[in-house]
Amino acid sequence: MTIILGINAYHADSSACIVIDGQLVAAAEEERFRRIKHWAGFPSEAVRYCLREAGVGLEEVDWIAINRNPKANLSRKILFTLTNRPSFSLVVDRLRHAAHWANPTRALADAFGVEETLLRPRLCPVEHHLAHLASSFLVSPFEEAAVVSVDGFGDFLSAMWGVGRGSHIEVRGRIFFPHSLGLFYQAITQYLGFWKYGDEYKVMGLAAYGEPGFLDRMHEIVCLNVDGTYKLALEYFRHHAEGVEMVWDGGEPVCGRIFTPKLEELLGPAREKDEPIGERHAAVAASLQAMYEQAFFHLLNHVQRETGLRKLALAGGCAMNSLANGKIFERTDFEDTYIQAAAGDAGGAIGAAFAVWHHELGRVRGFVMDRAYWGPAFSDAEIEEIVKRYRPRFEAEGCVIRRFDDEELLCEEVAERIAEGAVVGWFQGRMEWGPRALGNRSILCDPRRPDMKDILNRKIKRREPFRPFAPAILREHVAEWFETDYDVPFMLQVFRIRPEKRARIPAVTHVDGTGRLQTIRREQNPRYYRLIEAFYHKTGVPVVLNTSFNENEPVVCRPEEAIACFLRTKMDALVLGDVLIWRSQ
Ligand SMILES: [Fe+2]
Repeated sequence: MTIILGINAYHADSSACIVIDGQLVAAAEEERFRRIKHWAGFPSEAVRYCLREAGVGLEEVDWIAINRNPKANLSRKILFTLTNRPSFSLVVDRLRHAAHWANPTRALADAFGVEETLLRPRLCPVEHHLAHLASSFLVSPFEEAAVVSVDGFGDFLSAMWGVGRGSHIEVRGRIFFPHSLGLFYQAITQYLGFWKYGDEYKVMGLAAYGEPGFLDRMHEIVCLNVDGTYKLALEYFRHHAEGVEMVWDGGEPVCGRIFTPKLEELLGPAREKDEPIGERHAAVAASLQAMYEQAFFHLLNHVQRETGLRKLALAGGCAMNSLANGKIFERTDFEDTYIQAAAGDAGGAIGAAFAVWHHELGRVRGFVMDRAYWGPAFSDAEIEEIVKRYRPRFEAEGCVIRRFDDEELLCEEVAERIAEGAVVGWFQGRMEWGPRALGNRSILCDPRRPDMKDILNRKIKRREPFRPFAPAILREHVAEWFETDYDVPFMLQVFRIRPEKRARIPAVTHVDGTGRLQTIRREQNPRYYRLIEAFYHKTGVPVVLNTSFNENEPVVCRPEEAIACFLRTKMDALVLGDVLIWRSQ
């Protein structure tokens, strides 16, 4: 038996996974256990969970695979330092960051309170973007595909591409620091007044409200090269010279200002955090998205032509841009794509682990990630015990508790409540891997009600009004409702809803007529499928609104967090496994 522990550490979305004999057994992000969004640091709680789930001890681990290799691209780093003379603080910051990686075994031993000498795993640092490529291709159903990774930065690169064949990945191209599409997106996101790590998805939602009137000016910032790559006009950025203040250690990741005052000369004054969002901001967001797509498809088309392949395995933080992902078939000659549930840095843990299994150990492929449920589950007995503990609180809130022995009756009852307009917390089975709630830690409601978005925001989510909610649809009905008939199991592609259907599901139809859908096959999640099927039989609509089970916090992990979220918000009902709890007054 070969046990590989995969780790993404000292970076946003710290995570861990465990792969045993080439099969993924468990994977989770540290933020779910620490309860701090995008938690950056050493993922000790995620490691603890993975070991528990696999039923193995730390001393049994054969390999630790990490998605960083400080020695990668070293000559480039040295050359950059010599020719560009970045500030002293930038160099010190980089060296300090690299030092974190010196001894992950010691970090593990410290976190678990064991003697380092008892641990004898082999360490395998995997270059950041190679881990991204591996995180997609090596768990995809493709035997052969073009592979592309695009993100902010990792190991001095912002993009890498090549060809995946069997268990092998051949790297054919790279984009080096300081040029980065991910950083460009993050800089303009900050300019638009969204400063939290990971806020880019808000700007994607805003983009639909504007016209790309600033696109010409975006071309001043990003220049497309004839070889398929792109370049940043560096006078608009601080990261390459002064450096950007970053905190990646033991908490929420913090990133200082990336753009220079010159960007404001080009686009006008940056939006203050609390300033109302106006037309100009929406236009900048639309222009940013348009520029991003031009550069992204410029690269993808180059890779497609160079490789001649029609399948694409995509990864990296930029692979979370579901708007662009939904246009891949329109704007390139790729015909099939695979994007793993945790396409961003969390996914690097899986990429590193599978890179060890296939590249270091030379094993053949035998695992496909076709579902995202790799996190903790709680047994019926555990849930019953927790519900019992909270019973006085539920009763004080005027709640009724009912346990269902029959899954069909449970789904019927919940579907009925959703159809009546209830907002339902739906907590089932193993937690999702990756940022999306996909039917196990979800809040569900009726997509047919035009006022549902406002109700949901009032009762729980308190999101910016321009952000859409997502539809989850039975796989067999996708082509009837969307202008596609494609599998989107991880909610990472946006497609247009058929014009004649938009008025029927207004709560999940974005202002531009699109939806970031999740498609569900029965075998991927039988209970969730059954619930939506019951809703379909009642209403003729095979779609529910699905949003993550949280309230400005990481998605809930344990039943206690689901209950706390239910009790402090105005959620109408909560389903924990077989138990339905609803507010009767
Ligand atoms: Fe990355």
